[in-house]
Amino acid sequence: MKKINIAIDGPASSGKSTVAKILAKEYGYIYTDTGAMYRSVTYLAIQHQVDFEDEQQLVALIKRYPITFKQTETGQLIFVDGQDVTDAIRQPEVTNNVSIVSAHEKVRHELVRQQQKIAENGGVVMDGRDIGTVVLPKAEVKIFLVASVIERAERRFKENQSKGIATDFDTLKKEIEQRDYLDSNREVSPLKQAEDAVRIDTTGLSIEEVVAAIKAVVER
Ligand code: C5P
Repeated sequence: MKKINIAIDGPASSGKSTVAKILAKEYGYIYTDTGAMYRSVTYLAIQHQVDFEDEQQLVALIKRYPITFKQTETGQLIFVDGQDVTDAIRQPEVTNNVSIVSAHEKVRHELVRQQQKIAENGGVVMDGRDIGTVVLPKAEVKIFLVASVIERAERRFKENQSKGIATDFDTLKKEIEQRDYLDSNREVSPLKQAEDAVRIDTTGLSIEEVVAAIKAVVER
């Protein structure tokens, strides 16, 4: 069967990466977490004391330190300049500043180029904010996942707990709302549903139900 590209977009913690990973495994496709790439640049900026507003320096970091993925039995690891940053990029300092970094046009330009290269031969499940609209406008399947902010905050809360990251629920909810606001209102490639994307509200749905709903779209 011809390998297609599947684009999954949506706001923070809408379940994109969880279902994208499952779909990639089932179809034997490559999973690409584009949020992890913007997080890696933010992490690099913190490490190298680059101002989050300094677009030129942020681009210089991207050019100097390659971001790579490695698939393992237990999931996906992300490396920056050969260093495993899989856990480091999920820390609150990165999460709370990534939307400032990702709003820069030149930063997006560099990362979008890398994302398009990964998907050029098809067989990719890519999740993010602008995959269906900008990165892969010709993707055969486009999904836009949404869920209530309460449910998304609950998911993130549990995820953080399981990783031993201490968080307060209300703070988490405010941070998610703030990140969605910034991502949806930036000038360059804002978070928005592509006209030809299928919208799925995952509030109250299990992971299996969301996967089944997407597979129904893929096999249509
Ligand atoms: O998906 P995740 O929540 O890890 O994404 C982190 C951040 O990266 C988002 O809040 C957004 O600012 C940025 N992002 C983006 N475009 C993408 C993927 C993520 O701007 N395609």
